[in-house]
Parts: sequence; structure tokens; C-alpha cells
Amino acid sequence: MNAIVACDSTWGIGYCGQLQKPISADLKRFKELTWGKVIIYGRLTMNTHPGGKPLPGRLNIVLTSDPDFTVEGAIVAHNVAEVLEHIEDLKREHKLTDDDFFVTGGSSVYKQFLDYTNRVYVTQHFKSYPSDCDFPDLNSDPNFKLSSVGEWQEENGSYFRYLTYERNSIA
Ligand SMILES: NC(=O)c1ccc[n+]([C@@H]2O[C@H](COP(=O)([O-])OP(=O)(O)OC[C@H]3O[C@@H](n4cnc5c(N)ncnc54)[C@H](OP(=O)(O)O)[C@@H]3O)[C@@H](O)[C@H]2O)c1
Repeated sequence: MNAIVACDSTWGIGYCGQLQKPISADLKRFKELTWGKVIIYGRLTMNTHPGGKPLPGRLNIVLTSDPDFTVEGAIVAHNVAEVLEHIEDLKREHKLTDDDFFVTGGSSVYKQFLDYTNRVYVTQHFKSYPSDCDFPDLNSDPNFKLSSVGEWQEENGSYFRYLTYERNSIA
């Protein structure tokens, strides 16, 4: 599956439950890449969505340990194994492939699914910002290689670029 994340220059990804520096071009790209796909995220990340709700146009899987949690517009899963079962069911029933699944955060969920992640779409900020949670440093992870590096772009004085990391194939 894929992961998609916006990181600052030190792999920080959020502060006080929010994104560090939302960039509208990046949010648009997030929508384009995930539209019609399956997105998997933790309950705290759902609070960062508009209205604190599942995102439209995508099949949402939200993780929580609360057995009574329900939300309209999302499948609720209670552990990693349950998410993986949903993924296998969706692949079988809807002929989906690994590429149709995106882990969208937050920090705890990215880390728990990294072993199942084959490609990571990173929006890299040029600067660092205050952060209290992070994404694992993929430059130090021998399982991943940097496969594409976009040009630096600017929006309202903030510089960012798009990177792609791919899992090294097992020889
Ligand atoms: N920069 C980016 O691209 C990006 C993307 C997404 C999020 N973020 C940031 O990341 C931060 C949130 O990350 P986070 O790690 O604090 O929270 P999170 O991963 O979004 O959500 C954590 C919650 O998910 C549930 N959960 C996680 N793993 C579970 C498991 N194995 N079994 C059952 N439930 C599980 C738990 O919910 P319960 O407490 O209900 O049990 C847990 O409290 C925010 O600052 C957000 O802005 C950044």
C-alpha cells in the first residue's frame, strides 16, 4: 500500500493535533491522489478533516480502540489485523490492488503500517516547524530508496517539494 504525508525538514508532521503548515496546492494533490481510493487513518487524524468527518469520494477506514465508536461514512477498525482483513476483503470483492490503499496518518498509524507500505508520497517542507509527532526518517531506513524528487515550489512564502520513496524490492 501507499502512505501519503507532509513532513517538515526534520520529519515532523504535526503539532497540537493539527498539520504544521497546510499548503493548499498540497491539499489539492492529496485529494487528487486519494480520490476514489481507500484511505486508512487514526481517530485523531479524523479530527483534522473538515468537520471532523470522513473524507468524501474515498472509502474511509478509521482506527480506534473504542468498541462503541461509530461514524457515518467510514468503516471502523479496532486493530491493525482488522484493517488488514478489510484490505484483503476489499481487494477480493472490488478487484483492488495494493496501489488503491493509502495510509493517511497520523504518526502512530504511519508507524504501525510502515512494514506494509511499498511507496510513500512525501511533501517535504524546506523549513522545520514546531512538532510533537513525526514520520520515520526514510533516508535512514535501508528498506526504502528515494525514487523521485520534484522541484522546489513556493506558496505564500513557504517552500516545499514532492518526494517519492519506494520500498527496495526483495532480491
Ligand atoms: N503531516 C501529515 O501529512 C499528517 C497526516 C495526518 C495526521 N497528521 C498529524 O498527526 C497527528 C495525529 O497523529 P497521532 O499519532 O497523534 O494520532 P492518529 O494516529 O491520527 O490517531 C491515533 C488514534 O488512532 C487510534 N489507533 C491507532 N492505532 C490503533 C490500533 N492499532 N488499534 C486501535 N486504535 C488505534 C487510537 O484511537 P482511540 O484513542 O480512539 O483508541 C489512537 O488514539 C496530528 O498532529 C495530525 O495533524 C499529519
